Amino acid sequence: MTDVAKLLTNGRRAIALTGAGISVSSGIPTFRGQGGLWSRFDPMEFAHIESFRSNPVRSWELFAELAKGLFAARPNPAHLALAELEHHGLLRCIITQNIDGLHQAAGSREVIEFHGNARELVCLNCRAHYPASMFSFDSLPPYCNCGEILKPGAVFFGEPIPKTALLRAYAESQQCQVMLVIGTSALVEPAASLPLVAKEHGAIIVEINPEPSALTATVTDYLLEGEAEVVLPQLAAAATNYLAI
Ligand code: OAD
Repeated sequence: MTDVAKLLTNGRRAIALTGAGISVSSGIPTFRGQGGLWSRFDPMEFAHIESFRSNPVRSWELFAELAKGLFAARPNPAHLALAELEHHGLLRCIITQNIDGLHQAAGSREVIEFHGNARELVCLNCRAHYPASMFSFDSLPPYCNCGEILKPGAVFFGEPIPKTALLRAYAESQQCQVMLVIGTSALVEPAASLPLVAKEHGAIIVEINPEPSALTATVTDYLLEGEAEVVLPQLAAAATNYLAI
């Protein structure tokens, strides 16, 4: 912990890559592992773009259920700690795979939403975007003014990563000197490659996770083993203490 706090305070360019684990203590389940969303729903059936095209109502039923939890969730101490690090100039940006908007709700400003977000609905026909708050999910599916069924703003399997997010995430990964990899199993591409890109460009990889991930044995330089909501506030406190000295 002390070594990592020092890494953050000696002027190195640090960024974070976050996954579902950071939002667990906000009440949002992970995707994999026991009780994970994909242990109850087959992602290829509910969250693949082709399954959405062939049966949008089925995808919407799952998303509407999820959205209730997402919209009710509040940032936890892990989100707040990352916002604090950014506020002190110790963290340049967050690349998040999460669609819950909790980094922004915690006060983080530089957030790259790699897998889109739940705040918006998009039209695959005319590309219009609508705030999700315009719709009550009691009557599904929601429709665009052009007549097409709207899709949740989250990236589905088989869809490309939004171009601006992809380009920015790669540039930040190439340029960073420290990458905090928090609460992700690192199994879904291309997000899982970002720590490799960072490492190949000389960055130190710090992982924060209660369990080893696909990166731990081969890519990770420091593993802070534990829950993000416990470890990150400690790390932020240690780093800001060094700043004060
Ligand atoms: P996963 O569900 O694959 O992994 C969650 C990770 O969080 C695991 O490594 C857990 O050990 C860890 N974890 C659990 N509780 C934690 C806690 N309190 N603090 C820190 N870590 C904790 O979720 P992601 O890696 O985010 O994509 O999944 C990546 C992508 O797969 C998602 O963005 C989503 C999904 O399919 C799309 O839907 C496109």
